[in-house]
Amino acid sequence: MSEIERVGVVGCGLMGSGIAEVCAKAGYDTVVREVDDALVKKGLARIEGSLAKAVEKGKLPAAERDAAWKRIASTTRLQDLAGCDLILEAIVEDLEVKKETYRDLDRVCGAETIFCSNTSSLTITELSAATERPDRFAGLHFFNPVPVMRLVEVVRTIATSDQTAATVFAFAKSLGKEPIRTGDNSGFVVNRLLVPYLLDAVRALEEGVASREDIDKGMELGCGHPMGPLKLLDFVGLDTTYAIAEIMYDEYREKRFAPPPLLKRMVLAGRFGKKSGRGFYEYGGPK
Ligand code: CAA
Ligand code: NAD
Repeated sequence: MSEIERVGVVGCGLMGSGIAEVCAKAGYDTVVREVDDALVKKGLARIEGSLAKAVEKGKLPAAERDAAWKRIASTTRLQDLAGCDLILEAIVEDLEVKKETYRDLDRVCGAETIFCSNTSSLTITELSAATERPDRFAGLHFFNPVPVMRLVEVVRTIATSDQTAATVFAFAKSLGKEPIRTGDNSGFVVNRLLVPYLLDAVRALEEGVASREDIDKGMELGCGHPMGPLKLLDFVGLDTTYAIAEIMYDEYREKRFAPPPLLKRMVLAGRFGKKSGRGFYEYGGPK
């Protein structure tokens, strides 16, 4: 991709750190932005750990790891994203927080900069309406863990220009990903199918259909899924899944998207899954 050289990644949590890593590995100068120094440090540590794992697994030569690491800069100031050709936003799944961030980015970034959201469930149209550049706005939805999962959903709205759609699609390919094109419906292709399934697994647990282990084993051994649904929920984050379910339920008003009470109670109790040390399973550590 000739026109994209410098990429800004907003949010360096589970997804932002993975997105920054794949951009840097593909040769893009990458700036990550988090809200405070502690979160910058945590995000960079996640990238460093994943790069080390890639080397250890024989997926990445050590020299390429070092080169990728050098391409990553970090900041807490949104203004430091001013020189980026493409912004990849991966902050919390909250409409108001995202809209406020896009309004600020719109002022900070140059007129040609393309904005992409990694949202799981919000519509790209609604996010793009917070800016003066809906023609240069698209969805680029990565999957967790980003360095490993090959799919990216490329989402265009009725306002996205042909040129932006083509640039973003080519950018996804340049990261070594396999893009698919989807329309701007809440959940795109994958979450529209995956989220009701995950929520149903919580309902099955709630109703006492089987133990957490047997629900997961059922789908792992019966359907060949790499992770059962409750493990996958812990991996995605229960706070994020709850936000996604609320948004999709609000959009479709269909029961299959409604967050089950148990999921809500787990989030209220601070059990966010692997990232907080406890979800449907316990992960230990001082989190
Ligand atoms: N960098 C590069 N490659 C890596 C890596 C890293 N940091 N870590 C692991 N890998 C590679 C390994 O080398 C291995 O490759 P091979 O198969 O070629 O040997 C592969 O990735 C698997 O790694 P592991 O053997 O270490 O791990 P695993 O077999 O336990 O698998 C997993 C881990 C990939 C997470 C697997 O359990 C899995 O696919 N789980 C399901 C994940 C999933 O469904 N994600 C989607 C969530 S939904 C979403 O993201 C959308 C949303 O909006 C919520
Ligand atoms: P996360 O909670 O791990 O990380 C979100 C990060 O955003 C936090 O570190 C937070 O400090 C930061 N943040 C909040 N406001 C910010 C701002 N204004 N500027 C910079 N950083 C800010 O969440 P996540 O799982 O990485 O999800 C991020 C986005 O990616 C969400 O939209 C989510 O729906 C989507 N997504 C998540 C997954 C998943 O499996 N977790 C998969 C695909 C897409």
